[in-house]
Amino acid sequence: MNLLDTAIEAARVAGQEIVKRLPQERDIHSKGFRDIVTDADVAAQEKLAAVIRAHFPQHGILSEEGLTPGDQATIWVLDPIDGTTNYAHHYPCFSVSVGVIQDGVSIAGVVYDPVREHVFCAERGAGATLNGERLRVSQTDEMIHALISLDFARDPDQRAVQMAAMVNLSRHIHTFRSCGSAALSFCYVAAGWLDAYFHFTLAPWDVAGACVILREAGGVMTDVDGGPWNYQMPRCLATNGILHQSLLEAMRA
Ligand code: IPD
Ligand code: CA
Ligand code: CA
Repeated sequence: MNLLDTAIEAARVAGQEIVKRLPQERDIHSKGFRDIVTDADVAAQEKLAAVIRAHFPQHGILSEEGLTPGDQATIWVLDPIDGTTNYAHHYPCFSVSVGVIQDGVSIAGVVYDPVREHVFCAERGAGATLNGERLRVSQTDEMIHALISLDFARDPDQRAVQMAAMVNLSRHIHTFRSCGSAALSFCYVAAGWLDAYFHFTLAPWDVAGACVILREAGGVMTDVDGGPWNYQMPRCLATNGILHQSLLEAMRA
């Protein structure tokens, strides 16, 4: 199996595990301020890693719930459940995220929503798809029509900065959404369902898969100040490209 097919297979197997466990009682542990992990996160991580190791034993794995790579050139960056808070509340909005990084560059990504059976995927240079259909960002070109999503930082100071940007934006755009899975939200921008998404405290596993999908769908990602961005940077504005500059300015004023 090639990289992308392996990523899809791993995400599907992990997604089945998550959905199977959804009606069951949760085993929830705190791992920091406003930060939890459940039995399903750990079980899904094991499923992901087993599929990847079976096909690419020489690659490294970085995963949120405790797997760290060596110095391999190719690293799989995994989020077994993106949207754990939703999952713990039985709120059916979460995803499995798989990103493949080669020599520091994101080359393939899969984000799987096992509730809606949405498989978002992309390989660098080959376009992005949802269940096999080509993805393209929206053509929205007026701020007043823009549907913008964000998720909220756990850290109180970061949250306050983010809320200030939100208040500034609120004067210019149509309205906001917040889904609780950063990976899915980036994919919704890729699909043209949202015009933009921003976050101030992303982890690499939140976005390593989705960033390839968004860019291959024609989207633009920068730091929230407009500078260059990569999957290791926590602050990101992702847009349809057309509104990018206007949104950067509106966040400040
Ligand atoms: C979280 C989600 C959420 C975002 C948080 C992330 P997790 O990931 O992506 O939307 O606001 O910053 O940590 O913890 O559910 O994998
Ligand atoms: Ca996450
Ligand atoms: Ca997670």
